[in-house]
Amino acid sequence: MLANIVFRRTKIFFIKPDIRRKSLKILDLGCGTGFLTCHLEKLYTDSWVVGLDPRKSYLKEAKRKLNGIIIEGNGLCLPFREESFDIVCLYDVIHHIKIRKKFFKEVKKILKKDGYLFIKDVEKGITYNFFINLIMDLLQFLAYRENFGDYYSQEQWNKTLLHHNFDVLDIKKRGCEISILCSKIGNY
Ligand SMILES: C[S@@+](CC[C@H](N)C(=O)[O-])C[C@H]1O[C@@H](n2cnc3c(N)ncnc32)[C@H](O)[C@@H]1O
Repeated sequence: MLANIVFRRTKIFFIKPDIRRKSLKILDLGCGTGFLTCHLEKLYTDSWVVGLDPRKSYLKEAKRKLNGIIIEGNGLCLPFREESFDIVCLYDVIHHIKIRKKFFKEVKKILKKDGYLFIKDVEKGITYNFFINLIMDLLQFLAYRENFGDYYSQEQWNKTLLHHNFDVLDIKKRGCEISILCSKIGNY
């Protein structure tokens, strides 16, 4: 109940990659209750959309509203073959991940050579954002028992993504939200 009140989001904040191919394979990694997964299913009707999350309770809710494949799993050890996805999405996920080096390595592994990584997160930096984030984290902790977030500034995002061999193609901002589209550089 609390979770529904706090996280009732309506608008997707997504940079759609310009891919002309059909039948894409898309992974919503850390899909939670399927907020983005739902939008992806509508945006990419001919594609194969998969949602993955470690939390059973979220997946139960996701399964109620989605047609696609929902898998219980952990981003630190993904149950997919190398280079199997065209797009991997991380919607409000990274700030919860403590072992980011391993996490990005796994994402790179399962992305195709010319694949796209889409990230949406909360940007660190501006004072009022800090308090909003703190309140959101507290509510999230009360609702889901999730660990408090560790956010990046835009500069940290640029550095981190380059470090993990991702080329930043586009960045959009809305309030304290940051949305980033990147492509994979080189092989896994
Ligand atoms: C703030 S929620 C966002 C959920 C969903 N993407 C959305 O926007 O509604 C963060 C999600 O990250 C997931 N998560 C945390 N650690 C993870 C990991 N190691 N691998 C995959 N997902 C993880 C959590 O279970 C949770 O569903």
